[in-house]
Amino acid sequence: MVDLKVSKILFTEDEIRKRVKELASRISEDYADKEVVLIGVLKGAVYFLSDLSKNLSIPHMIDFISVSSYKGSQRGTLRLLMDTRIDIKGKDVIIVEDIVDTGLTLKEILKIVQAKEPKSVKVCVVVSKPNRRKVDVRVDYVGFTIPDVWVVGYGLDYDEWGRHFPFIGVLENVDSKT
Ligand code: IMP
Ligand code: MG
Repeated sequence: MVDLKVSKILFTEDEIRKRVKELASRISEDYADKEVVLIGVLKGAVYFLSDLSKNLSIPHMIDFISVSSYKGSQRGTLRLLMDTRIDIKGKDVIIVEDIVDTGLTLKEILKIVQAKEPKSVKVCVVVSKPNRRKVDVRVDYVGFTIPDVWVVGYGLDYDEWGRHFPFIGVLENVDSKT
């Protein structure tokens, strides 16, 4: 068993709930009368996608995509582990992700999704770390902006641990560059 020490809670369960509702009402306004498909990026976006979906007042479908990043010399490229199942051609897609850090993951996912010729693609994340960006990627809906720290909870993990925390918190002694 690992002993995850959360040194600081950045966003409480209540604050997250409130922010997700705000994002959901904005999306519901922006996408009225559209054929919306939310695509959650496994596994980090599971908690967020579920809450966001339940708070949308517009009809929509949900799907998932799963990728894993290569380590070492191929760093920066992604392997597609599980593709979407719904035919998104001509539909309005929102990619739902836990966090955008360097932006490399989202950039690759956008390429995969764009190739399926959706009508439009936007990106919605719980957390953004703008100081860490290496590639330019447009994020349309952002829950919270944070500095260069490693966060866990609400789907976010440290080596697969800590996803289930209902809050978003900073881990003690973790270098965000790892
Ligand atoms: P990228 O650097 O934007 O490509 O982010 C890659 C992935 O790193 C994200 O999808 C997360 O799974 C993970 N990640 C980056 N920062 C954090 C963090 O602070 N906590 C947990 N996961 C993170
Ligand atoms: Mg992760």
